[in-house]
This record gives sequence, structure tokens and C-alpha cells, in this order.
Amino acid sequence: LVYCVLATVAAYLLGSLSFAVIVSRVMGLSDPRTYGSKNPGATNVLRSGSKAAAVVTLLLDAAKGWLPVALVRWFGAPYGLEEGTMAAVGLAAFAGHLWPVFFRFEGGKGVATAAGVLLGINIWLGVATLATWIIIAAFFRYSSLASLVAAVFAPFFYILGAGMAWYSDARVGLAIAVMGALLIWRHKENIRRLLAGTESRLGARKKKPG
Ligand code: G3P
Repeated sequence: LVYCVLATVAAYLLGSLSFAVIVSRVMGLSDPRTYGSKNPGATNVLRSGSKAAAVVTLLLDAAKGWLPVALVRWFGAPYGLEEGTMAAVGLAAFAGHLWPVFFRFEGGKGVATAAGVLLGINIWLGVATLATWIIIAAFFRYSSLASLVAAVFAPFFYILGAGMAWYSDARVGLAIAVMGALLIWRHKENIRRLLAGTESRLGARKKKPG
């Protein structure tokens, strides 16, 4: 249990690194919390006009979700760390992104971090969910809509995968469902804008208040 708690705290601290803010600062761009949707995430960093900064943010925010889960999966067994800890560290990294201790608990929406967690749990689970995101984004050009649809599909992909016997652990399934629910809740402004037809599309440079 001690190792499980330590791993979970470490994952939360890692998740608390808000890379949208860090990368923007390092690259000399304005703080993503001051423009566009005001969200510290890759989508909003893209609105700064820097694709490179957006891609680096996306990769680092995903990596911080992926790493703790993958580490537990690869090296946890000798310490008694198994699926329950995988679920806990994944959720902790995700929660760190939403409520970062280093940024006054004002974090992002968790899309990239959740994608990383899913990839860490199972590569095919991650790939199926990412493919969903890409298909919806390609058709509708809304990052938020793609994230919402992918979040709804992820638990079903997990159940499908479990049925095909990659995997099945109720705690991991629950963690995925909780992440999805929190992710959707963090998108409530986006949902309002989507319904009102005022959500900004991917590729549009227009800056509008969140
Ligand atoms: O990555 C979060 C995305 O789904 C929406 O971001 O900046 O458009 O609110 P944003």
C-alpha cells in the first residue's frame, strides 16, 4: 500500500506540470490562460499560431499520463503494484492536469493526458480512442467535439477489448469512466458553444473569449 500511495502522489505531481503553460513560457509565447478559450491545453496553444508549441504541449501532456501507467505496468509487479495502482496513477496524473498543485489548481481539460493514460493501459485502447478523435476532428473541425465523442467511446473500447481478452479489471474500467465523465464536465463551456454554434474550429486563428 505504501508503494501504491507513493506512486499515486508522484503521478499527481507529474500530472500537475501544466505543459501548455511551461512550453509557452520556454518558447517565449504568451500564456495560454490569457487568450482564446483560456484553457492551458494543446488546442488553445495552437491558437497562438505556433504549431510546434502545440505539438510539444500535446506530446508532453500525453507523456505525463502515459509514463506513470506504463511504469507501473512494466516494473510494478515486484512491489505488489498491479491493476489497482495502474488505475490510481492514471487517474492521479489526469487529476493533476485538471487541478495542478503548481498552478493554483487551475488546470486544463485533460484530453491529451487521458489519451496518454489510455495508451499506457493498452496500446490498442489508446489507438482506437485516438482514431475516434481524429475521425471526428477531420469531419467536424472541432477539437472539443472530437474529445467529447472520444471520451464517450473510450469505456466501450475498453469493454470491447476486455471481451476480446486483452484485459479486464473493474478498477481500470472505472478509472476510464471517471476520466471520461470529468473530461466531459470540464468541457461544459465548449458544449454550450457547440450548441450555440459559436465554438471555434480547428485551424481558425480567431481569438475569442472562453
Ligand atoms: O484540449 C481541449 C479541447 O477539447 C478543447 O480545448 O481550448 O477549444 O477549449 P479548447
